Amino acid sequence: MAARLSFANITALAPMVRVGTLPMRLLALDYGADVVYCEELIDIKMVQCHRVENEVLQTVDFVAPDDRVMFRTCEKEKQKVVFQMGTADPERALTVARLVEKDVAAIDVNMGCPKEYSTKGGMGAALLSDPDKVEAILRKLVSGVSVPVTCKIRILPSLEDTLSLARRIEKTGVAAIAVKQGSEKESRVGNCTGGSLDLVKTHGDIRAFKEATGASSVMLARAAMWNPSIFRSAGLLPLHDVMIQYLKYALRYDNHAFNSKYCLCQMLRDKVESVLGKRVQAAQTNLELSEAYGLEDLFKETQTQLEARRDALLSPGWR
Ligand code: FNR
Repeated sequence: MAARLSFANITALAPMVRVGTLPMRLLALDYGADVVYCEELIDIKMVQCHRVENEVLQTVDFVAPDDRVMFRTCEKEKQKVVFQMGTADPERALTVARLVEKDVAAIDVNMGCPKEYSTKGGMGAALLSDPDKVEAILRKLVSGVSVPVTCKIRILPSLEDTLSLARRIEKTGVAAIAVKQGSEKESRVGNCTGGSLDLVKTHGDIRAFKEATGASSVMLARAAMWNPSIFRSAGLLPLHDVMIQYLKYALRYDNHAFNSKYCLCQMLRDKVESVLGKRVQAAQTNLELSEAYGLEDLFKETQTQLEARRDALLSPGWR
């Protein structure tokens, strides 16, 4: 049996809606991230999904009734991927956690999202004003699944309230608490996120950030979204090379073209209006994205390989 994922002294790719899909997570791992969070997935949508072993892509897909793949993962990240959910309901949270637990390294509950779509349903940051529910959800998960359970909160208006919530959460048996913005000096489970804008611009800044906050571990969101090679101890790589590596994973794992385009546009940032940026923005398919980077041969090669695998799986003598 694999060792339980440890959250001590790690650097993680933070959960990011739309950004934290499979290609970005695999790339972050390649560059040195210890742990990668998926984008927040809402429990109500996840409970409707069924688990499919996709033998062509060699992935595990959680597929919605309308055939949309809500969550795609693969063996390569199994020991490192944290499934983040949005929930306000202990029972439903447990149902979802049990659905995915065999395929992920840990389960996280988002308690920090201030966006209306999250707080409206009592999820995300709204949970922070209902510590009884926070406790109920986390206790249910900790006792109900075999993988570590963590949560991500944001600091409350007062330090005292934040610490008392963190202590209450700690008692539920979670493996880590990620705290958006701020320090968590008193808690041995405290991790930290929230410095991409000014504090963490290079790999070297990660250690300084840890020392300044006293956090055990660091999560990076925007700095990683802009250039995931931030996780490389040897330093940032040129963005163009990083985008090409991203696209290779996107093609290999048949990532939805609109999602790949979104991630590439985030990486392009102020270059989104450049000649390349305009081609990426105009692309509607994976082929058009590949053409923007001069990778049409790679696109064709990947398609050929996937088709060959599909044909082999369909041929009668296969099993
Ligand atoms: C986020 N953040 C976020 N947090 C979370 O718990 N679940 C989520 O799905 C998302 N989605 C998301 C999308 C995007 C595009 C961004 C930029 C951020 C918050 C994120 O994980 C992190 O806490 C903050 O961005 C602060 O960290 P940085 O950006 O300063 O490193």
